Amino acid sequence: MIAASPNKLPDKQRTIFVCQGTGCTSGKSVEIREALEKAVAELGLDSVKVDFTGCHGFCQQGPIAFVEPEGIFYTHVAVEDVPEIAQSHLRDGQPVERLFYQDPISGEAVPYYQEINFYRKQQRVMFGQARAIDPTRIEDYVAVGGYQALAKALSSMQPEEVIDAIDKQLAEIQYADAAEAAV
Ligand code: FES
Repeated sequence: MIAASPNKLPDKQRTIFVCQGTGCTSGKSVEIREALEKAVAELGLDSVKVDFTGCHGFCQQGPIAFVEPEGIFYTHVAVEDVPEIAQSHLRDGQPVERLFYQDPISGEAVPYYQEINFYRKQQRVMFGQARAIDPTRIEDYVAVGGYQALAKALSSMQPEEVIDAIDKQLAEIQYADAAEAAV
């Protein structure tokens, strides 16, 4: 059982994010999100928000859902799991341990997003902000620094400078790839 912490108290504001990327959607994550919205409303959990994200790059564990701010990460979620998640975790503050990620080497359950080795060992360039971005809201992307390079290119750079910057970036990527391949 996970020890209680201030973040897990039932009266704290929390959000459950359901992945709506292609892989998780094929596993009925849209239905899971809708069932969560219904369950949260029926339980009168005013401090709980149901939201969604794009892909987290871990589709084989999908459908994925996670709860912030504590970062509890659920794998292979089904519509049938929704009542337990809503009642046990979102209402009573007790996460559903049977839905935690199982580390394939240690066999241990890993409750927190940031403690999963798959994520800990990556520098997540493309998907790193997936936890903070609703893919239907461009404002979310802008809020985490999205389009800054485009704004800079359009507002203060000459065409030749843009080409040079892209060439330089490509060279750095190729160098990094070559260095990694040599390890
Ligand atoms: S689609 Fe959900 S993790 Fe990739």
